[in-house]
Amino acid sequence: MIKVDVKGCASFVDAKQYDAYVKKALDAFDVLESEKGAGNDFLGWKHLPSEVPASMLADIDGICKDWKARGVDLVIAIGIGGSYLGAKCVIEALSHNFAKQLAKKDAPEVVFAGNNLSEEYLAELMDLSEERNVACIVISKSGTTTEPAVAFRIVKQYIEDRYGKAEAAVRIVAITDAKKGALKTLSTQEGYKTFVVPDNVGGRFSVLTPVGLLPIAAAGLDVKGLLEGAKEAEKALAVKSADNPAVVYAAMRNLLHSGCGKSVEILVNYNPKLTYVAEWWKQLYGESEGKDGKGIYPASVNNTADLHSMGQFIQEGSRLMFETVLHVEKARRSVVIGSDPQNLDQLNFLSGKHVEHCNHMAELGTRLAHIDGGVPQIEVAFEQVDARNLGALLYFFEFACGISAYALGVNPFNQPGVEAYKKNMFALLEKPGYEEATKAIKERL
Ligand code: PA5
Repeated sequence: MIKVDVKGCASFVDAKQYDAYVKKALDAFDVLESEKGAGNDFLGWKHLPSEVPASMLADIDGICKDWKARGVDLVIAIGIGGSYLGAKCVIEALSHNFAKQLAKKDAPEVVFAGNNLSEEYLAELMDLSEERNVACIVISKSGTTTEPAVAFRIVKQYIEDRYGKAEAAVRIVAITDAKKGALKTLSTQEGYKTFVVPDNVGGRFSVLTPVGLLPIAAAGLDVKGLLEGAKEAEKALAVKSADNPAVVYAAMRNLLHSGCGKSVEILVNYNPKLTYVAEWWKQLYGESEGKDGKGIYPASVNNTADLHSMGQFIQEGSRLMFETVLHVEKARRSVVIGSDPQNLDQLNFLSGKHVEHCNHMAELGTRLAHIDGGVPQIEVAFEQVDARNLGALLYFFEFACGISAYALGVNPFNQPGVEAYKKNMFALLEKPGYEEATKAIKERL
């Protein structure tokens, strides 16, 4: 289970202040649990782990088996934002670090598209597709997002040209709205198998719907374990208490922001498998809290690598930030440092020690140094990087996000600001219906 330790903030806040922010977080907990707060039509994510339909998991399994029988070894998952980052973060966290390079493949490789508009990226995706046996999962709740729509046009055409229309219809699966939208209409026309993004689940909270689960299952990863871990977290975090880890995290980050002037939160990891957990977390907190002129800017570092790039700034630069450290209690693999008769690198004092012991000492040393440098430290700890703990971690961050955003006084579940760039892009691309906006934007150039 997820544990949160805020001792690393003790020298920056006083106990009375903290109690006041715990009270705020507990009030926000009530708003979330009463389901009467702003955006309460988007709370479907809260009970996803305990209410996951067995039939949906069976359908997902059926698709993976069918693709296996067809020899599929490359699945292109098309989506952006919440329709991309959940699957990407779980696949990165649970896969072998060198899955792509290892000769032995247990499952298809899942690659992502539709999360950028790079022409080179799509051209090179076609190069890869030529060498592989391809299937595609296209994910868009609205069905109208430009980036995935552009990528899907290209991938759909490629699959149809290569395998024929009938075979394409079993190699393409769509995940979209139950009733409306361009992707839903197209799927019905083409006869694609579809999964639904529930109306009451926003993109960034959708990792435990088919949006995340189908690509994760296609990659051969432990969907059941992920859901079990999330279910344990759902149960544990529903208890109203000042010790509830989600309450503690929400209270302390709000205090560090509103009470201590910290405007940046850096999510820190010491395991490269967690790099995309931070990317997913950035969307979750950035889109949920960054509105109405409020919010903490979510950033991340991957240590120890980034101690040799961002470490200087964090230690001694502008004092904007606090850190939330993902502390992994144990490594799942074992590598012991050997002894060297010459000892030229002077590392014999480490011989017989596990590499993870050094990693933990680097983490501890950094945390103490950063406290000395004026950077408060929150610890979010879990046992190991496996499906169960990851499921619990993702649910923990979602639940804490709801509490934290309500405590901050914003609607956690909308993202009105995302539309601004789209409007300008469509105006610049001269989309029909945007004539006025096109004229106006051209005058600005
Ligand atoms: O969190 C969100 O709602 C957004 O990031 C969306 O997931 C993202 O914009 C993609 O939208 P859609 O799934 O409609 O294509």
